[in-house]
Amino acid sequence: MDKEKVIRNYNEYVVPSYKKQNLIFVKGKGSYLWDIDGKKYLDFFPGWAVSGLGHCHPQVVKKIKQQVDILIHLSNNYYHPWQALLAEKLSKLSFGGKVFFCNSGAEANESAIKLARLYGRKTKRYKIISMENSFHGRTLATVTMTGQRKYNEMFEPLPVGFIYAKFNDFSDLLNKIDDKVVGIILELIQGEGGINVIDEEYLRKVKKLCIEKDILLIFDEVQTGFGRTGKLFAYQVFGVEPDIMTLAKTLGGGFPVGAMIAKKEIADLMTAGTHASTFGGSPVACCACLAVLEAIEKDNLIENVKIMGEYLKEKLEQLKEEFKIIKKIKGIGLMLAIEIEGNGEELVNICAENGLLINCTHQNVIRIMPAINVKKQEIDEGIEILKKSLEIIE
Ligand SMILES: Cc1ncc(COP(=O)(O)O)c(C=O)c1O
Repeated sequence: MDKEKVIRNYNEYVVPSYKKQNLIFVKGKGSYLWDIDGKKYLDFFPGWAVSGLGHCHPQVVKKIKQQVDILIHLSNNYYHPWQALLAEKLSKLSFGGKVFFCNSGAEANESAIKLARLYGRKTKRYKIISMENSFHGRTLATVTMTGQRKYNEMFEPLPVGFIYAKFNDFSDLLNKIDDKVVGIILELIQGEGGINVIDEEYLRKVKKLCIEKDILLIFDEVQTGFGRTGKLFAYQVFGVEPDIMTLAKTLGGGFPVGAMIAKKEIADLMTAGTHASTFGGSPVACCACLAVLEAIEKDNLIENVKIMGEYLKEKLEQLKEEFKIIKKIKGIGLMLAIEIEGNGEELVNICAENGLLINCTHQNVIRIMPAINVKKQEIDEGIEILKKSLEIIE
């Protein structure tokens, strides 16, 4: 299919709900993508962190291929060994909870909302507090929980029971608490919201409040999970455990997967018939996740994030010294951003022309989130392209 035909087909047959860059990709390997003309791009925002281990990680590819020949899908009314193994691993690697498997971040958060409501039934509580600038997905409930009006105002009337508090502002949170609140959901680093890191003291106060008031503490680790912050989960950076955690993106290494983990006594409220997902936790999906977890461990990728994260941050700080347009470097591990004065989209487009893929959020925050197995020379290459692009824009 030629380029024009691809674009024509999208225009004619695909719902136009995505803003698109004029790029057609046909192949990916590690930190690189190739377009339809064979041009190579360094991908520092691989699939919005879905391809967190780079594109087509060999172990993920191998496991998926092997499993496809054995059993692709199985109804959740039966047992299979791969889901049993993955649930055990996720539970033991986190806070010892039980796992519900689904297919996306939004679905994982939707599951958390439903579980929180089950938990609140006895005491007639149902409200969930989320943060301004948060992002939790696009289903009707999760887009309502997303604390950004631009994403949900056009879908009114919205589901009831969602309240918003200012991120990192404990007194504002206290003002929002009433006797109907059953959950507080937090991204420990707001991703789409502009790479805003949670304040540790604030987080400890929220935890204490949740214990005192019997409110469920829910962490959305859809973007921060699986090594991105220099720990397997971001909550381990701050040493504060949630009651419920939601996961997706890197978990499947490119395969569509979502998961919710909840403390056992809470999880057990989801009795047979209360919740389901037809495709959730299929044998192939679970094998992809198992390969991701194995690769993180075997290849020492958490250590790589720490080393490469520091290296990348240092390089970005150097760029900040050089270019007045850069106002701030934000984030931790390999979840970094530069805040610029000016049009972030323009910089993203120039970088793409120069062979580097990055992302702009909130007009001027440039998200840089390479694969967690990124190599030093790839960071050097990315910084060179960024520098060249900044020279054009400044
Ligand atoms: C923190 C967070 N939660 C939830 C979601 C929604 O995930 P999905 O697009 O897989 O539904 C995203 C997606 O960007 C996210 O970053």
